[in-house]
This record gives sequence, C-alpha cells and structure tokens, in this order.
Amino acid sequence: MADSTGRILIRREEIARRVREVGEQVTRDLGGAPEGDVVLLTILTGALVFTADLIRAMPIRMSIATLAISSYPGRATTSRGPSIEADVPGRLEGKHVLIVDDILDTGRTLALVRDRVLAQRPASLRIVVLLRKMRERDVPVEADYACFEIPDEFVVGCGLDYDGLHRNLPDIRVLEPEDRAS
Ligand code: IMP
Ligand code: MG
Repeated sequence: MADSTGRILIRREEIARRVREVGEQVTRDLGGAPEGDVVLLTILTGALVFTADLIRAMPIRMSIATLAISSYPGRATTSRGPSIEADVPGRLEGKHVLIVDDILDTGRTLALVRDRVLAQRPASLRIVVLLRKMRERDVPVEADYACFEIPDEFVVGCGLDYDGLHRNLPDIRVLEPEDRAS
C-alpha cells in the first residue's frame, strides 16, 4: 500500500541538491584534518537517510560511528526528552568529530550528545543537521550547518518518523492532524 501521508514541504530533488552542497562545504572545512582523524557520529534512527546521502558528498577518509537516542516514543509529536538507547562510542579523544542529526528541535538531543562527545576531548566538534526548526531552543545548542530551516511543524520523511513509520518517504512532509492516529 502506497504511503502518501502529509503535505510535501521539501521535495526530494531540492533535498539532494542541498545535501550535496552542505557535504561539500563540510568537506572543505574539514580539509585540514589529518587523514584518518575524522569521525562522523550519526544519531540513529532519524539521521540514517541524511547520513547516507551526506557521506557520499564527502569523499575524504573518515570513520563512521553511531549512537541511538529516542525522544518521541510512539505517537508523541512533542519531545519527551532524549533517552539514550546506545551510547556515544568511547574513542573520540583527539578526533575531528562531526555529529549528524535529522532535526534540531528543542535542542535537548544535540546538547546531550555534544556534551558527551566534548567530555572525551575531541580535537574539534561540528554539528550538521538536515532540518532546523524555527523556534526557541529549550537548551542552548547550535548547529554549524543546517540544510533547511523549517516552520515549527511536525514533519516526516527522509529519515524522520511518526510512530516508527514514514522514514522511507523521499520528500519531507508535514504531518497534518488528520494523519495522526488517534
Ligand atoms: P530535540 O531533542 O527536541 O531537538 O529533538 C531531536 C529529535 O526529535 C530528532 O532527532 C528527531 O528524532 C525528533 N524530532 C524532532 N522534531 C521532529 C519532527 O518534526 N518529526 C519527527 N521527529 C522529530
Ligand atoms: Mg532523532
């Protein structure tokens, strides 16, 4: 059964173009990092699709590490606060770390991950997100790179889910109230 949930906010072609552009920019900025010292740290599950696209626009030597955070359990569309399901790996000292997430919303997820990475004393730390919601953050945290600024609405697609679904949709879509299961 086809999934046509929600109203398209950003089309796949625009996402592909912009992700390539940001990937090239991050690559230039990491240009001075010694070979093998770049670690891309991706926050599962939401950043899975963005990461796959981004890394193919970054043809430099890097390793990839993952952690898993959950903040919108089940049918929640407001953050319940991040809970760590799989922690930051413990070999980041002296590395040039790039944290990748799908969306900067309240900021609590990225602030938590940032602090855990900084505790390991990396050589540098950057944050890249696919989407940045235009709203106040609950905690101070900024992304160094954001592919798109979006209004404060609940979106799915390109890795973002509602109740575990719609991550595979290639466009970013706004989930309308009638799309939310009661
Ligand atoms: P924050 O901790 O509130 O900044 O939220 C970050 C996490 O919440 C993201 O990594 C997403 O997994 C999830 N999230 C925030 N906003 C949305 C949304 O509009 N749709 C789907 N997931 C979202
Ligand atoms: Mg996430």
